Amino acid sequence: MKRIFSGVQPSGTVTLGNYIGAFKQFTELQDEYDCIFCIVDQHAITMPQDRLELRKNIKSLAALYLAVGIDPNKATLFIQSEVPAHAQAGWMMQCVATIGELERMTQYKDKSTKSVTVSAGLLTYPPLMAADILLYGTEIVPVGDDQKQHIELTRDLAERFNRKFNDVLTIPDIRLPKNGARVMSLQDPTKKMSKSDPNKKAIITLLDDLKTIEKKIKSAVTDSDGVVAFDPVNKPGVSNLLSIEAALTDATIDELVAKYDGIGYGDFKASVAKAVTEHLAPIQSRYAELIASDELDRILDEGAEKADAIASRTLKKMENAMGLGRKRK
Ligand code: TYM
Repeated sequence: MKRIFSGVQPSGTVTLGNYIGAFKQFTELQDEYDCIFCIVDQHAITMPQDRLELRKNIKSLAALYLAVGIDPNKATLFIQSEVPAHAQAGWMMQCVATIGELERMTQYKDKSTKSVTVSAGLLTYPPLMAADILLYGTEIVPVGDDQKQHIELTRDLAERFNRKFNDVLTIPDIRLPKNGARVMSLQDPTKKMSKSDPNKKAIITLLDDLKTIEKKIKSAVTDSDGVVAFDPVNKPGVSNLLSIEAALTDATIDELVAKYDGIGYGDFKASVAKAVTEHLAPIQSRYAELIASDELDRILDEGAEKADAIASRTLKKMENAMGLGRKRK
């Protein structure tokens, strides 16, 4: 069975972008692949976090992973900081990466220009992400489009490590969703839908109440053509809504365009809103049950144990290859 690894940051509320770009792929893949999913709390602290909020977000994200349909009997779910090999291998990958290549990462450039103080971790976060992936001999990484550059860097770093030291790391491939690899803001559809958007009308979170979701979609920015057609450059708003519906219903874009032929934007938006709320309603009820149960701790303990066994083996190989410490088997 091929190995899959992916992670989501517990930094604030999970958006429909995270769901379509990441979670939905995860649930589709867990039957065919050996999946390891991570709550990457060490990535979250690259930006300032409130301690109590972070704890709450970690638990909430764990419940969401399960609520969207991750089955702990099939996939491994764990918290990054509970498996020390991540920080250890992350340091080693920082020493393989160059400052120049890290400074070229667009996410670093975006986030660092928006903040007054920038942590060193924000710059060195991609080598930690590379370590996350490489520790598990990962073959496929399902993510949204915004992580493409980080996965390319992971491949470069792994190849460099293998060439310089010893051939111990597997080179991973990216997997993007067919539709919705980049879900856009509802208020500015030329921008990515992002958790940190201060305008809450621009984002749908998985835990927004259904009426709010409906309102947000109905007030999404479109254009004045009045024709439902797929053209991301000239009609980004309408195209974004079409992509969202296609991703959630598994209909093709062509089928949706045919369905909305001759239909006005008001009815189109109401219909997209219905598809989204129908999809999210069962997830929200499962979430409410899970967050109140004590099942989560048991699942996360077991997940950390399983992940640790795999990650420590790779870490030893990496340390031996680099010449760290004494040679161990
Ligand atoms: P994060 O937490 O920002 O996002 C989690 C996942 O959601 C996807 N995503 C989107 N997909 C489509 N449209 C959007 N608007 C959208 N916004 C976010 C992201 O692409 C991602 O798949 N660095 C990563 C977390 C990470 C990771 C890893 C991922 C750490 N280690 C190892 C994969 C493998 C991040 O910050 O994702």
